[in-house]
Amino acid sequence: MRGAVAADHYVASVAGKSMLEQGGNAVDAAVAASFTLAVVRPESCGIGGGGFMVIHLPDDPTHGYVHTAINYRETAYVDGDYFERTGKSSTIGGAAVAVPGTVSGLLYALEHYGTLDRATVLAPAMDAAKNGFHPDENYRQASDGLIARFNKNPEMKTKFPLMWNHFLQSGNTPDMVQRGDLITNDSMLRAFELIAEKGREGFTKGELGIAIVNAIQNAGGEMTLGDLEGYEVLEYEPLEREINGHTFYTMPPPSSGGVTMLETLMILEALNYDFDNHAINNGESSHQLIEALKHAFADRSNYLADPEFIDLPIDDLLDISVIEERAQMITSQVHDPKYYGTPNLIPNDHGTSHISVIDPWGGAVACTETVNLEFGSLVGVNDFGFVLNNEMDDFTTQRGKPNAFGLIQSDRNLPSPGKRPLSSMSPTIVVDENGEVFAISGASGGPRIITGTMHSLLNAMAGKSAWESMNAPRFHHQWLPNTLFVEPELMGIMTERSGQGNWNTIQQTNRAGNVQIIIRDPDGKGWQSASDRRKGGQPAGID
Ligand code: GLY
Repeated sequence: MRGAVAADHYVASVAGKSMLEQGGNAVDAAVAASFTLAVVRPESCGIGGGGFMVIHLPDDPTHGYVHTAINYRETAYVDGDYFERTGKSSTIGGAAVAVPGTVSGLLYALEHYGTLDRATVLAPAMDAAKNGFHPDENYRQASDGLIARFNKNPEMKTKFPLMWNHFLQSGNTPDMVQRGDLITNDSMLRAFELIAEKGREGFTKGELGIAIVNAIQNAGGEMTLGDLEGYEVLEYEPLEREINGHTFYTMPPPSSGGVTMLETLMILEALNYDFDNHAINNGESSHQLIEALKHAFADRSNYLADPEFIDLPIDDLLDISVIEERAQMITSQVHDPKYYGTPNLIPNDHGTSHISVIDPWGGAVACTETVNLEFGSLVGVNDFGFVLNNEMDDFTTQRGKPNAFGLIQSDRNLPSPGKRPLSSMSPTIVVDENGEVFAISGASGGPRIITGTMHSLLNAMAGKSAWESMNAPRFHHQWLPNTLFVEPELMGIMTERSGQGNWNTIQQTNRAGNVQIIIRDPDGKGWQSASDRRKGGQPAGID
């Protein structure tokens, strides 16, 4: 393959591929795939959410050399005490919604680094909205829990009518999945028409902007048109570190993904980890990996937040002497939970989506987007067919208490107007010793994004194919709760080892992240791609 797009829904992969076929570059493909995901993966991402995009175009015919990271994470408009003071929910309803950034971010990427026009990149999304898509197993799983919740709390059916009547099909979604019915979305088509015609202002102003703000205010939030219009896209240098002879380009804060993954991998390198023979059925290396994750997630919790508001000690955290000190703390034992923190619970969430793209010029894009939990805040912009995020829950909204992912975060991550909540999204591009793109990866799944992305890249560096790198079973540890989450295939061996070595508390999980990965063929001539079987995605490529 000369180019490939790996999204977590096949219709979105094909949308990106069609841009490559029209001569577009990786950015055009990522933007088209992302707008299409807004239609076919409304449970995961969409124009009501936000995201990050890492771009590495070594030799683009239009732009030459491009190396950048785009931050279109949602922003707060309230202060740090807001949720404690008002008692409002940070996961459901209008107050949970942070100012969305996806439309501004995608159009910014397109205008600065893409080559095609708005109408072209929006065409596949408009087609999907008009002609419909078949809900899949991931959609059914996301809907099942919500249908039960709506049935238990019938007032939710009138409070969130777009969710109940449209996205949950008044409780019929599981039947629809079995029958293979189509879900069309003419209302969202209208939103895309406004964006195609007016650009960013089609979303932040006029009838669509007013509809968004009204939806939020009617559901108990206080966002204004000024907040929506004032949203700014930011651009950073990607975070860069050498690991095992490879250069990792990944997302800096306000994503914690890059720092946490790099810290884990650097601790492994300091322990002389055998990267070439990485295998998680090796007891010693698994132990090292789990302990390194605990250190990195502890630092995530204690130190990371939005760098526009707080000075972050990233250079210290990734300083080799600090890393070596941490590596030396890893013994053959696991430590008392108090050594790391307090236990709590996390949901198995997939309110996020990742796209990996490679184009025929070797240009790479890693793009992860989110509405946070599945279907976000449940607040629908009814006349325009989409739901709004609940990204406020990624802030520290109740001091000392875990968020929906079980993450306890510091006061550094308290909300403040214009501030972006700490994220786990880890879009990453890995370049080899010759400076050529070797792999593009990223994932969905809350904090499991970090471990899922990292497992896939450890596998890739050990010489596994894209399919094997995605498919291999994974585990996840995030320091708190002090529990090792293990995919079913590893339960037997991990439980046995845990019993032998007084290891970790173990809990089975069906999905430790959902990865989309592209890897250079070993002969260097083409690309292999894989979308995660766990979420039902499928990649698409051009020959
Ligand atoms: N909302 C998931 C994340 O950004 O980590």
